[in-house]
Amino acid sequence: MSKTSIFAENSEDLKVEDFKSKELEENTIDNGTVTWKTPSNIALVKYWGKRDPQLPENPSISFTLNNCHTITTLAFEKKENNSKEFSFEVIFEGRKKEAFKPKIQKFFERIQEYVPFVNLYHFTITSENSFPHSSGIASSASGMSALSMCLMSIEKQLNPNISEEYFYQKASFLARLGSGSACRSVKGELVVWGEHDEINGSSDLYGVPFSSEVAAIFKNYQDTILLVDKGEKQVSSTVGHNLMFNHPYAQNRFLQAKENISKIKTFLKEGAISEFIALVESEALTLHAMMMTSNPYFILMKPKTLEIINKIWEYRVSNGSNVCFTLDAGANVHLLYPENEKEAIRKFITEELAMFCQNGHYIHDEVGDGAKKI
Ligand code: PMV
Repeated sequence: MSKTSIFAENSEDLKVEDFKSKELEENTIDNGTVTWKTPSNIALVKYWGKRDPQLPENPSISFTLNNCHTITTLAFEKKENNSKEFSFEVIFEGRKKEAFKPKIQKFFERIQEYVPFVNLYHFTITSENSFPHSSGIASSASGMSALSMCLMSIEKQLNPNISEEYFYQKASFLARLGSGSACRSVKGELVVWGEHDEINGSSDLYGVPFSSEVAAIFKNYQDTILLVDKGEKQVSSTVGHNLMFNHPYAQNRFLQAKENISKIKTFLKEGAISEFIALVESEALTLHAMMMTSNPYFILMKPKTLEIINKIWEYRVSNGSNVCFTLDAGANVHLLYPENEKEAIRKFITEELAMFCQNGHYIHDEVGDGAKKI
């Protein structure tokens, strides 16, 4: 597998060109402020493995969340000098945050050919998350999508002719360049990222709302995030994705994910919840299996992650429940369940699962409909 860009020999080339801004000379806006609130998302079929520039090796699908979100305000004013350096400061939850600057600097470098105005302004990026900073919940998806929405609001002011569809597609395109899964945090309620024959309009460049039929049982789906380990991630996702290069099982995994997208499309349509559960749990364990079988290898689950998984399996059998779990690249467990089981599952959480969470903490969330301008 090569790490080089595929653009030169691929028809995506044209599509990438479509995201380059053309109207910069007409720029007459000196300053302004825009604010967006954007959600986190949880993948059902996982993205793990990428090639430059931030293109997925396999398609993925996620539920957009509702309560776990980032609110970002982007204040911009014309720079006084013509320096080529990006000029910005970051204030996170009320404090200057130097530690976030390298990631944003890299993001600006990647996106400047698409939003050249990033060079013209000094930016103050003020951001806050609805979930606790040290919760082990990845904030890059909501953080990068919020910043991308703000940048698109500036582009819209500079070029009011852009369509609403282009606005959201380009926001997702930019977010992808910040953090891959962030491109699934622009729209709701189910979003697919990555080209797939059976998903209309799907692209490696941006996420698209899943537009096929979805049975009632999968509407308003619930996700309670059980905070098993609130610490910093042991393996950054960049390192994790890179472990898929030369991974002995990588090619089969990419094929499996493709097949799982076809399968989940059918399960969502038919309301086939048992099959959905088996697929979603298998995806979570496969993601972790890929990490356990990479070189170097990692175990990101903690003993309490396994205790929770066993409790879920026991509960499901004894109660005929449809609760299931999924995992991100960490120890926290996302408990997924239909809305009609909300009361029973929340009782199960307080009585049998909270004891495995760090300081008894968990966050109730549910499927949401995407980014909102504030
Ligand atoms: O967006 P990244 O590069 O942080 O990758 C995230 C990958 C997973 O969260 C593990 C899976 C996914 O599809 O969201």
